[in-house]
Amino acid sequence: MLLVALDQLRDGVVLGEDVRDTNGRLLLTKGQQIDANQIRLLKIWGVPEVPIQEQDQGIAKDKGDKEEADRLKIERTVQTIFQHIDTAHPAIQPIFKAAVEHRCQKGLFVDLGPRQRLPEDFKLDLYNGMKTQIQFSEVHLPESPEIIIEFNKIVDDPMSSANDIAAVVSRSPSLAALLLKIANSAAYGFVSKIDTLSRAVALLGTREVGVLAMVISSVQFFRDLPKDLIDMATFLRHSVACGLLSRILGAQARVPHTERLFLAGLLHDIGRLVWYRYFPEQAKLVLNMAKTTGLSVFELETECMGINHTQIAGYLLKKWKFPESLENAIVYHHCPSRSHEPAEPSIVHVADIAVNALGLGHSGGHIIPHFDPRGWYQLGIAPGALKTAIDQTVQQVDIMTELFTGL
Ligand SMILES: [Fe+2]
Ligand SMILES: [Fe+2]
Repeated sequence: MLLVALDQLRDGVVLGEDVRDTNGRLLLTKGQQIDANQIRLLKIWGVPEVPIQEQDQGIAKDKGDKEEADRLKIERTVQTIFQHIDTAHPAIQPIFKAAVEHRCQKGLFVDLGPRQRLPEDFKLDLYNGMKTQIQFSEVHLPESPEIIIEFNKIVDDPMSSANDIAAVVSRSPSLAALLLKIANSAAYGFVSKIDTLSRAVALLGTREVGVLAMVISSVQFFRDLPKDLIDMATFLRHSVACGLLSRILGAQARVPHTERLFLAGLLHDIGRLVWYRYFPEQAKLVLNMAKTTGLSVFELETECMGINHTQIAGYLLKKWKFPESLENAIVYHHCPSRSHEPAEPSIVHVADIAVNALGLGHSGGHIIPHFDPRGWYQLGIAPGALKTAIDQTVQQVDIMTELFTGL
């Protein structure tokens, strides 16, 4: 018979003796197999250790060994994801820790396999194809739906009113219905039912409703992408998580109009969707090459195609007449220090790194390209606050992703 501390105790072991509290009251009897619930109760009763049958020592140890082995595997996964980044950086440390914890809880391993070198001809073939086509407008980027342009004006105009929103939304009954569905969801937590658009605007605010309308219109625009290339549910989860975390970080940094950061985070990889829709063959080659070389998809896009998804997003958002502030946050989300206004792109940049590290969906690849820390310092977000923001995002991401699924 062995005494095992509660922290070391695994469910399924059999008690070698009766367990009593400090007053001698019988809590559990000898021979009883204990489960996680009983371990929790033992902790509440203040029992520090319990006697277990000797043959169970092996079970406990094996389970402990397996957990340790799984944790090491997860740590290696996160190290691989961060291979191009200094993990000792104060902004990256809390993300690394949160990523290991979250992936351990969910069992999220990434098996990236053995590495190969990038073949020379691979680069040239793609480069000559795609950059030329996009730059010389041989590719017709999606035309903006009228409604997105109108919402852009409203979201960008500080004088816009509830009536302006209602006038635009009421022209599309399906958009109005979706807006009310979102406003009534648990994600917003209103007790009474919101049954009219004017009430939704009154409760959520003009900008929030405008942003939601833009999200609905933009996400609907990118339905029906090739399933063998990208799983839209995974892509959407990545986008929603980045939107949520950007909004929370924005509030921590006291950036005005955090709803704009939500939209920027949600649409930050929209350039990839253009790429998947109009260049599916090239995209497939690059995604496969990222898996075998250990290079990031962003690096491969830039190197091999001469154009990356942030530049594609730049062309698209100009065409869709997005406000410059949104364009700035999206176009510079991989290199915020190149922006004249680095605060918002820095927030989306760090949010993107964090949600990739935690495995809250992805937009094509797992390896994080690099960390551009310059804009981050100006935000004044403490590492502890970053950890809190990540925890809040994890709590909200499922409910919000479900909301946007099937739009
Ligand atoms: Fe990106
Ligand atoms: Fe991303």
